[in-house]
Formats: sequence, structure tokens, C-alpha cells
Amino acid sequence: MPTTCVIGLLWGDEGKGKIIDLLAGEADWVVRYGGGHNAGHTLVRDGERLVLHLVPSAILREGVRNVIGNGVVVDPFHLRDEIAGLRRRGVVVELGRNLLVAEGAHVILPVHRALDGLSERMRGDAKLGTTGRGIGPAYADRASRAGVRVGDLIRPARLDAALQRLLAEKNAILVACGAEPLDPARLRDELLELGRSLRPAIADVGSLLRDARRRGERILCEGAQGVLLDVDHGTYPFVTSSSASSGGVAVGTGLPPQSLERVVGVVKAYATRVGAGPFPTELDGAFAHRLREAGREYGSTTGRPRRVGWFDAVAARYAAELSGTTEIVMTNLDVLRGMGPLRVARAYQIHGDPRAERVQFPLFDLDDVRPVFEEHQGFDEDLSGMRRWSELPAAARRYVEAVEARLGVPIRTVSVGPGRDQVIRRDSAIPHAPAERLRPAQGSSE
Ligand code: IMP
Repeated sequence: MPTTCVIGLLWGDEGKGKIIDLLAGEADWVVRYGGGHNAGHTLVRDGERLVLHLVPSAILREGVRNVIGNGVVVDPFHLRDEIAGLRRRGVVVELGRNLLVAEGAHVILPVHRALDGLSERMRGDAKLGTTGRGIGPAYADRASRAGVRVGDLIRPARLDAALQRLLAEKNAILVACGAEPLDPARLRDELLELGRSLRPAIADVGSLLRDARRRGERILCEGAQGVLLDVDHGTYPFVTSSSASSGGVAVGTGLPPQSLERVVGVVKAYATRVGAGPFPTELDGAFAHRLREAGREYGSTTGRPRRVGWFDAVAARYAAELSGTTEIVMTNLDVLRGMGPLRVARAYQIHGDPRAERVQFPLFDLDDVRPVFEEHQGFDEDLSGMRRWSELPAAARRYVEAVEARLGVPIRTVSVGPGRDQVIRRDSAIPHAPAERLRPAQGSSE
């Protein structure tokens, strides 16, 4: 397997966990490169559901080294609990062997969680709907050079210096807001204790990964969230605080940028979003409720009901181009069973012009666009037991082909249920070559 990354092409929750778990069968290393425990990657093992937030999705695979890269923000309290929860369920987690954490990863402290909540409250109606995990404030401290890093947890003198830098400012803010200041001594003790327990896992993983690549080992980078939540290229300010697109791989792992040879973009057969922000194809009312229930569309981190909508080929095409996606996996096709005619946004109407099939997201406000839909025949068959492309009903095949034509990137895999085996591989008429891949979409079935 060439060095590969798996990313979500819309607003996250596309089902990346299962796809990473599948591809991990061919990998030696699986590396998270961004985000934190705001992510929720769901795996189904022998019918049992396992949700991972920070630990990479190959933890169930024997022989794979799971790495939390330097681009991730790590809540060490959460990491301790997630590891303990996995072990309670019989998952083997051996620090330093199948789980490693980058020394350079920034630490989420309780104060970051408090500030996340505070800033959401202060925004009132304009709030972002964050996961409340302290992600934004921790990345803000990284950028403002006030952060604490995982490597500091095992070096008391460095931890003292880092906490002094950080808490002077944070406690002033907490006090100004009428909240209790943090007790530096207590926090220091807790962090050093966590450092002691995580110590075997803490490593210079950038060097390990570069060496592994030199030896020809197979590296799979695990994206979190989705391209449209990318801090630079997403629907800013309604985004997360990291580089969720493939661009985050080099920054968040220490691998050189040219390492990445294959980008697997994951899309759901329809669209979802949690939190606030523009969502041009959003549905509401009874139909949205039906789709949400059929797809069990509730946040795996926060339990919030996800907003649901039709597939947005304009947004997904933008994300595929931006991230250099070389192949696509479409998940949850089975969920569209019995939903009647299926719609796909093929263009946006912007300022009265209904022909925009390609967009530059930062250039305009997505609240002002109206999707232009094409309609496809739906299907009523249960797809969950089907394993071959030829078994799928013709309408389901035509739907996948129509989306593929819009995106200009081959859809090589279709997922028809949460289980590992519920996948259908297919050959595509669209070749892999980038020049072909980026060809403008053909025709319209409007
Ligand atoms: P934050 O990452 O908690 O700061 O949240 C910022 C935005 O990203 C909010 O709209 C969240 O709902 C969204 N978000 C963060 N992580 C995920 C995820 O894993 N899946 C889907 N949405 C997410």
C-alpha cells in the first residue's frame, strides 16, 4: 500500500472509522494527524459497536502501530480513560508497542474545555456548536506559543515553565469572568502522574515514521472531521481548528509532503452536519426525521442529532479537488432504501446564476446559495446483504454512477452497512490519472 490518507469530503461523520479499519489490514502504521477527541470513529466488531475518539482506528488490528501524531491535540485525562475503556472491553493496548503519542502533540487542559464553553456562551446566537472538548482553545494556545506539549508531561522542569506561561494568562481570564482560578500545583501533579502512565507511548514519532517510510513500511494516515470543517479551506468560521484535509498530513505527522501517494475521500450517500454553519442541501420536517432515523444520525461524540440533507456534489467536488482525492468510498448507500426519488445538488444558484458547478468556498457566503438538484430514481431493496456490484438494484448503481460523474473521481468502494464485510468493490470507468480526475464534470441529467 502506498502512503495513504483517508479523509472525509464533507462535514465529518462520513464513516471513516470503518474504512480505516478495513485498509488497516494492509498497513503497518496508522496515524492520526489532526483534531482531538472531538472525533468519533465507530467500528463494529462481531456485532459490537466501539467508538474511538483519540486512539487511531486500527487498534483492533494485530501488528499495526497506532500513532497519535503531533498535529493532534491530546486531552491526557481523556486518553487515559479511553485506553482504560478499551482494555475493559478486551482490546489489547500496549503503550509503545501498538500505541504511540507524539512528543510534540499539544495538550488539552481542563481550562481549554472551560474556555470552549465560555466562548460558545459569549457568542450567543452566533455560536459554532463546538463539541465542547476544548479543541479551539488548545489550538489557539499552540499558535500563540503558550501551549503545553505531551513531551512536557515527562519533563518536570519543562512542564513548570509551560504551566507558568499558560496559567498566568488563563487564571487572569478565569478570575475576570468570575470563575475559580486553577491551582497550578494540583494540575502539575496530575499532569506528571498522567505523564508517568503514558511514558512508554511518548516518542519522537516523526523520526519513527520517516524511518519506517525509508524501510518501505506501509503508512495510513487517518483524517478526522471533514474537508469542509478544515480551518483554512472549510466553511469558516463554522469549522474545527485543524487542517482536516490531506494538507494536514505533513504538518501533523512529520512525514514529508511528497510521501502522500493516495488520498481516499469518504462521502456518505447523502449529507450530514453537526453544529452550526451553512448547509445548502439541508432537509427538514418529517422526511429529514426519517432519513436521520434510518441512518442513526446522532453524533458519536456528543449524541446531538445530525442535520441531514441531499448529497451535495458541488461541495464534495470542491473537497475532492482541494485534497487531491484519488478514489472515493461511498458509505450508507443502504440507508437510502425506500426514500423515494433521490436528489443530488449538481450546481448552486449564486446571485441568480444557476450554473455554478465549481466553487471557491471562502469567496462567498454559502447561506446565500440555493442548490440546483438533479433527481434520480430511488430503490426499495435491502442492500445490506449484497456484496457484489452486479447484485445492487439498477437504480442504486445509477445513483452511484451519477455521483461519480459529478465528482470526476472513481468511486471504488460502496459500503452497505456498518459491519467490516458490508462493502462492495467496483471497477470504475473513471481512471485514476490526476489529469483525467480533474476534468470538468460531464453533462447534466437535469
Ligand atoms: P470543535 O472541533 O469541537 O471546535 O467544533 C467545531 C465544529 O466542528 C462544530 O460544528 C462541531 O460539531 C464540528 N465537529 C468537530 N468534530 C467533528 C466530528 O468528528 N464530526 C463532525 N463534526 C465535528
